[in-house]
Amino acid sequence: MSSADTLQEVESLREQLDAWNHQYYVLDQPSVPDAEYDRAMQRLLSLEEQHPECQTNDSPSQRVGGQALEQFTQVAHEVPMLSLENAFDQSDMLAFNRRVLERLEQSDIELEFACEPKLDGIAVSLLYNNGCLERAATRGDGATGEDITHNVRTIHAIPLRLRGDGVPAVLEVRGEIYMPREGFEALNRAAREQGGRPFVNPRNAAAGSLRQLDPRVTASRPLDMCCYSVGRVEGGELPERHADVLERLRSWGLKVNPESVVVRGIGACDDYYQQMAERRDRLAYDIDGIVFKVNKLELQARLGFVSRAPRWAVARKFPAQEELTAVLDVEFQVGRTGAITPVARLEPVFVGGVTVSNATLHNGDEIERLGLCIGDTVIVRRAGDVIPQVASVVLDRRPPNARAVTFPIRCPVCDSKLEREDGEAVWRCVGGLVCAAQQKAAIKHYVSRRAMDVDGLGDKLVEQLVDEGLVENVAGLYTLSREVLQGLERMGEKSADNILQAVEASKRTALSRFIFALGIREVGEATARSLALHFGSWEALVSASEDQLLDVDDVGPVVADHVRQFFDSLSSMDVVAQLRSAGVSWPDVEKARSSMQPLSGQTWVVTGKLEQLSRTEAKAHLLAIGAKVAGSVSAKTDCIVAGPGAGSKLIKAQELGVKIIDETALLAVFASHGILL
Ligand code: IVH
Repeated sequence: MSSADTLQEVESLREQLDAWNHQYYVLDQPSVPDAEYDRAMQRLLSLEEQHPECQTNDSPSQRVGGQALEQFTQVAHEVPMLSLENAFDQSDMLAFNRRVLERLEQSDIELEFACEPKLDGIAVSLLYNNGCLERAATRGDGATGEDITHNVRTIHAIPLRLRGDGVPAVLEVRGEIYMPREGFEALNRAAREQGGRPFVNPRNAAAGSLRQLDPRVTASRPLDMCCYSVGRVEGGELPERHADVLERLRSWGLKVNPESVVVRGIGACDDYYQQMAERRDRLAYDIDGIVFKVNKLELQARLGFVSRAPRWAVARKFPAQEELTAVLDVEFQVGRTGAITPVARLEPVFVGGVTVSNATLHNGDEIERLGLCIGDTVIVRRAGDVIPQVASVVLDRRPPNARAVTFPIRCPVCDSKLEREDGEAVWRCVGGLVCAAQQKAAIKHYVSRRAMDVDGLGDKLVEQLVDEGLVENVAGLYTLSREVLQGLERMGEKSADNILQAVEASKRTALSRFIFALGIREVGEATARSLALHFGSWEALVSASEDQLLDVDDVGPVVADHVRQFFDSLSSMDVVAQLRSAGVSWPDVEKARSSMQPLSGQTWVVTGKLEQLSRTEAKAHLLAIGAKVAGSVSAKTDCIVAGPGAGSKLIKAQELGVKIIDETALLAVFASHGILL
């Protein structure tokens, strides 16, 4: 191959990889399978290795390059990186609006405000020279920061070179690097499993990941970035409004928060704030408030700055997601699989929008890692729908009468032995189905909405049924009679009949639900679905060897082992036989399989709150039937599923005339393709 041909192939591979990267990380619209991406990357790497003269710093192959640093160097910010004034309620916002109008010598006009989620991460500056990422720096004290270019280059949402037209010769972009919650939870889970120290919150995790001297560590961390302003610009023009500037950044391949909107008047700012406050828990990342900015740049220039904050912007804060409180006691709960989980009983505290009085401590190792004693003051964190966590202990506030936590040596419920498998952090009660706690937890799981969905059989009732010896395992539910139920406290004829009806109705189910309901260790909903889809029938699944199980998507050796153990256990299979002879049945999965990709070629968007299933699940089902699921609405969107609280995406879909359906219609779509939820 001539060197011109090589260069051409190298350049076209780079363009292709940049485009895929942009679609995946910036637009949230994956366009090719990973294998295809990997092949192109391997080809590029091998060409660059054979032809070192073709290597460039902005090649997508160069995200993790070079050696670990000895130390960070200092960077002076030519345009200082400012902070923001805070507002805590609408009256602070009205005062802000009044100050702005007075300075502009206006009385009651309604100004345009750009409204943006205030991401809780680390502020950074990215310097692009002729479109190539040249330097990245932390904010530091606003005047001087640290050079973190080597680490920032590993973040896929940050382009190494800008795309599109009109890129200025020098462009300094500012924004927030953050760690989405899912990635943070996964990182902490891994740290706990490996005996490491978990991070307190996603912001600390992001900061810690950027403070690495070795970029390979940063590359392994799930970081993301959204841009929110521009510092230096030379040799190029920018639009006259802030929101249009952000749109321009987006057109150059930079990621901008899709939740941002422009409104008119301070009243509309409040509407946006309330809407986001309601949606905050369901976002994929932590936000600690909303930033409101006067949209017209000319007005921003007239307003100027006071000390270190602009007069044209304000951050209205949300209730804190971390608070201090006291640990009153530590109790030990026994889970469905016998796992012993220590739980901190707390002095009730309002955090992340709810009152929290319990927090999980995960396992004994975590108590040691935290160095927690009963009586300690701790930082409690609650974000999203994640269960409240004890993030750290405030040692300075330890009272003299603080007591050490003693981990039990026998099951606190059935007094059986506790055992711990090699390399595991969790102790388990060996009592199995003899242990009342495990019986209760197994039945609660079986009847839960996502499993067999037995309406009306709440936790209290399950506890009563087990405590009174009326039901020992899930099969026992199908032997309940009206007389037995009516014998229970506060149970009328009508309620008893309703429960019997719900138990009866649960007999007609889907194979995937049944597999999930059995509570096999490590088999969550997604795995249950994969197993059902792969094997098509219960008989095929039960007779599958460990190797055959390993052929299933997302089944690894651990899951395969647990599944086989379950099927090899006589007592488990006896319960299954009782369930089936009671009439529990499901339609053939083959039908679902034959029409597996009916939505291929379509792009769907899911927004707002869903009641019956989480957004992640809705997306997983859509992907399973062939749809592409995008994060933002465009003319190419085929359908948007909008739940309550849907905001800018719904408005855009209406403007573009995109088909809009609600959750009920989505479930009907799933049902028509054999996905019964
Ligand atoms: S604008 C001159 N916009 O909040 C304006 N800041 O408390 C400077 N932040 O240091 C910042 N999201 O790290 C702006 N959409 C957003 C933001 C945002 C998060 C952070 C930023 C800044 C801090 C100020």
